[in-house]
Amino acid sequence: MNKYALALGGASLLLSVSVLAAQAQTKPPITPPEPPKFDAQGKIDYVGVADILEFKALPDYHEPDWVTKNFVASGKLPAVKDRLPKEPMVYKQGNMVDGLGVYGDTMRHVIGGRPEGWNYSAGQTQGWGGIDIGLSECLTRSGPLFQIKADELQPLPNLAKSWEWSEDGHTLTMHLIEGAKWSDGQPFTTADAMFYWDDNVNDPNVTPLNGAAPGSFGEGTTLKADGDYTLIWTFKDAFPKQYLYQMAYGTFCPGPAHILKPQHPKYSKNTYEQYKNAFPPEYLNIPVMGAWAPVEYRPDDIIVMRRNPYYWKVDEAGNQLPYLNELHYKLSTWADRDVQAVAGSGDFANLEQPESFVEALKRSASADAPARLEFGPRIIGYSLYPNLSANGWGEPDERGQAVRELNRNEHFRKAITSAVDRKRLGESLVKGPFTTIYPGGIYSGTTYYDKDSTAYYPFDLEGAKAELALAGLKDTDGDGIVNFPAGTAGGKNVEVTLLVNADYQTDKSLADGVVSMMEPLGIRVLLNQVEGKQRDALQQGGQFDWMIFRNQEDLTSVVQKTVNLAPIGPKTSWFHRAGEDGQVDLLPFEKELVDVVNKFIASPDAAEQKELMKQFQKLYTDNVYGIGLTQYPGALIINKRFANIPKGVPINLFNWAEDSIIRERVFVPADKQGKYELFPETLPGAPGDKGGPAKG
Ligand code: GLA
Ligand code: CA
Repeated sequence: MNKYALALGGASLLLSVSVLAAQAQTKPPITPPEPPKFDAQGKIDYVGVADILEFKALPDYHEPDWVTKNFVASGKLPAVKDRLPKEPMVYKQGNMVDGLGVYGDTMRHVIGGRPEGWNYSAGQTQGWGGIDIGLSECLTRSGPLFQIKADELQPLPNLAKSWEWSEDGHTLTMHLIEGAKWSDGQPFTTADAMFYWDDNVNDPNVTPLNGAAPGSFGEGTTLKADGDYTLIWTFKDAFPKQYLYQMAYGTFCPGPAHILKPQHPKYSKNTYEQYKNAFPPEYLNIPVMGAWAPVEYRPDDIIVMRRNPYYWKVDEAGNQLPYLNELHYKLSTWADRDVQAVAGSGDFANLEQPESFVEALKRSASADAPARLEFGPRIIGYSLYPNLSANGWGEPDERGQAVRELNRNEHFRKAITSAVDRKRLGESLVKGPFTTIYPGGIYSGTTYYDKDSTAYYPFDLEGAKAELALAGLKDTDGDGIVNFPAGTAGGKNVEVTLLVNADYQTDKSLADGVVSMMEPLGIRVLLNQVEGKQRDALQQGGQFDWMIFRNQEDLTSVVQKTVNLAPIGPKTSWFHRAGEDGQVDLLPFEKELVDVVNKFIASPDAAEQKELMKQFQKLYTDNVYGIGLTQYPGALIINKRFANIPKGVPINLFNWAEDSIIRERVFVPADKQGKYELFPETLPGAPGDKGGPAKG
């Protein structure tokens, strides 16, 4: 290969004979093997956006009887028609597989995460598993797009009910839903969107959950309000329609400005830390635009959410949504979510940890099993990401900095990838046709995947060692671990820490596999295994050498979270960010990646976008950008009593299934309703009220 000839040219005299001999053994990359056959079970009924929803006024509106009786009749709440916006969002019956629903019952979720608090605008997690998806709403929506016809694919309207582009394509005018209210009855307006944008996204001291930054919507993008209900975006590029996806979960979901703003340092004496922590989990009834608001929190036990009386979506008969009165979030473990969903003591699980596949399948097989289990396509996968910032991000010490320099060396990354035996790794999680070899980049079996543009470095320990030598690493003291070159990090053994989310068995299993596969290569990997919310913080803060990462929608749908595919902005990449000076120290091939991703975002042409993603995949896998580990299908487990679960919902394509199933339309037929409501006939109380829900 030319590259090698070039490297040898000037430097050949310096290379030892053994290195030359070894480097001749390095196997060139191949196209990845065909994955074992595994068909998704549910067939999707594809539709257009207008088949799902519209915004319009209906002649009359309805709500659960107890709301009218206990709250409206006593004057505690206005009538339902006065709580709804002028033109609510109306879900079309034709797209509801079981039709119009009835009120009542609870969806009992179980999660492994723990809430930090309710200030997601300032970066706090609520514990995942769809809590934040249930309580927040975003300008647009992506989850349900799995069922949209390819030629009509664009984000669903949501808080932004419509938008239009200026003739030159640089201005996007968005119309927010008019007259919608937060769950405490306060109006939702552009003031909420502008507080999110000005004082959270654009305040360098604040990083919203999921990392929204100015660059997330394009460098140089501006946002202004025109009155209460119009937002005006300007972009450097013409028609960057891709950013409409960024306005979906979780990068443009405004929080309640009337509650948050008074705590923000710009408008108070608070520090940024105090602002972030001003709404701990104990703060109940935080106002939401979502269908349910949190009304009860018991540490390590449960979060309970009750229906939002001001929710702004209805069915075609005018019934205010949601149909379900309550959501539970039991605070347990992710593995327990699977166990409980299968057993019927929980209602929902994204079966995503292969370690529990066989048991879950076995238990769901019988006709009287309480839950149905449906496998989707292979869209769950993990990569090993080297921290590529040599610019001070995360403030590494001398050893850490030396590892960053190594991470930036192509030979080093090739050594690592060639030392990973992906077949063995996959089989260590589960036997059978589930896992498949994943070289990295776009997932096989998804729209933008192109096998011929994918470079796979097969398992080859000798070749890997040769690459390590080319990276300048030798075991100088004969203890089996290669050393940094003299003069770097004291010439000590190369020890790399691997950041791992301890909340998931799969993350831990894969990390163990990586440790044991790096050992014979001569690299010592030390695990930094921490609970999920700490993992998130260390990742956001750049405090890792390598990390194990469950990939997200950028690599499955590509159109969602596209900006995360490359460091197109100072904070957009998961594993390569800017230092203090705001600059990302891009490697030469990353400059090309950035260029390709920017072109993809700006391109109005589907065929061109497809070509661009081939280039992306080639650059990504040739250069071993992220080191793919394994890829496999996930299954949605959901209790059989629920109706209106769309067919073929993938557990994570454009977003997680908690969004994609459109929970506000899900219901339980009257004869199947369980007595699970912990706070029947109550609604969210006053914000911050320690008393929990209101009885009316
Ligand atoms: C966690 C879970 C996923 C999904 C998401 C939703 O990451 O592992 O299955 O529930 O939360 O945010
Ligand atoms: Ca050594």
